[in-house]
Amino acid sequence: MDEVIARLERLVGGQRLRSGEALHPYTHDESDVGPRQPLVAVEARSAEEVEAIVRLARETKTPVVPRGAGTGKSGGALAERGGIVLSTAGMTAIREIDRRDLVAVVEPGVVTKTLQDAVEAQNLFYPPDPSSLDTSTLGGNAAHDAGGPRALKYGVTRDYVLATETVLGTGERVRTGHRSIKGVAGYDLTALLVGSEGTLGIFTELSLQLLPKPERVETALLVYGGDEGEEQAIRSVDALFGSGLLPRTCELLDRPAMQAVRSRAPFAFPPDVAAALIVEVDGNEDGCARDLRTLEAVCTRAGAAEVLLAQTPGQRAKVWETRRLVSPSLRALRPFKMSEDVAVPRGRMLELVRAVRRLGQSLGLETAVYGHAGDGNLHVNLLFASRDDGAKVEAALAGVVAAAVQLGGTITGEHGVGLAKKRFLSLEQSPALVAAQRRIKAALDPDGILNPGKIFPDES
Ligand code: LAC
Ligand code: ZN
Repeated sequence: MDEVIARLERLVGGQRLRSGEALHPYTHDESDVGPRQPLVAVEARSAEEVEAIVRLARETKTPVVPRGAGTGKSGGALAERGGIVLSTAGMTAIREIDRRDLVAVVEPGVVTKTLQDAVEAQNLFYPPDPSSLDTSTLGGNAAHDAGGPRALKYGVTRDYVLATETVLGTGERVRTGHRSIKGVAGYDLTALLVGSEGTLGIFTELSLQLLPKPERVETALLVYGGDEGEEQAIRSVDALFGSGLLPRTCELLDRPAMQAVRSRAPFAFPPDVAAALIVEVDGNEDGCARDLRTLEAVCTRAGAAEVLLAQTPGQRAKVWETRRLVSPSLRALRPFKMSEDVAVPRGRMLELVRAVRRLGQSLGLETAVYGHAGDGNLHVNLLFASRDDGAKVEAALAGVVAAAVQLGGTITGEHGVGLAKKRFLSLEQSPALVAAQRRIKAALDPDGILNPGKIFPDES
């Protein structure tokens, strides 16, 4: 192992290596998984260095775990089997923003918001908007196929990655994809690599599709009260889509979420507030005005007590601040909280929420459900008072993911399997499907050095 460190030092110099105490920031991410101790962490600054490090790892059979900003929520960037954490967070060049091709070419360490601001300054738009966008990197977003509120209308990160330069587990550096929107030559390895959680390759460059920036965005906050409020909010989502509207976001905050944010939120919600929706539409002025009229009519009919339209950028920021306050406000209620990211077909959301409540009641745990209701991707939160509740929490978690799968959904809509969900993968995928994926892994990473121990259950 000393040999690995010595060789890394020869490759990149001592300045960009971390070991011992200095490894602390690399031992966890933003999930509850961890800590995991790597042998060493190294900051790559170029594709050539990433390639050389992976080759070294292969020769010495050392695990190599790619890492961006460490904002992942599934333990994907943790060194489950030790070895080298390879950070690409220092590769921060935006190489191109091409207005004619509508393409941005970036290094993997570019922070999501940095690219968004850069393209918006040119009246362009990069839609994927994970909550972590102020700090997460595009490489990490691509590795986990990050989603976010706007995925409802605009799709997820995968829908924007046109091409990659990737170092495979073999140590070969390949270019996948195409700069044009179309391109059907061979297997779609770009789509396969995106969302493969660093188990097949490490991105050294991404070509991302851009859109023209929408002329106008309107933000509405719909508030529901009373005993029926939660159901009315969920039924409003059905009614919205039934009316032909395609908003760009449709976020749900349930009763526990609203009650938790009530005292901190920048709005005076009524004491019996039961739920809220945050709906955003975009387009041109006339289209937005028409959509807002439809939205107001549909949701009022479905039971909304109040429809607030943000009139200024400041008001819009306050609406989104309310959404962002949910997680810290719930955490303030109980010392421990698990946040899941199951997704179900939109029409099955009410059943999921009911199943979560039943589970919570039977186990004596408080629950909250919020998130991307427009695409059925809900953050089910389990609140608990002490680590001693571990067995109950595990039972609740198993119940939540099982309910999602049974409703035709998935165990993870946007955070990835990583370490956090691998024990549940077989609920969703057959043995034959898991085996096929293991064969793909073996083809691209024959020595199993890339992010080992992730996604798939351990083989006994
Ligand atoms: C969110 C993250 C947790 O939507 O996915 O807030
Ligand atoms: Zn989310």
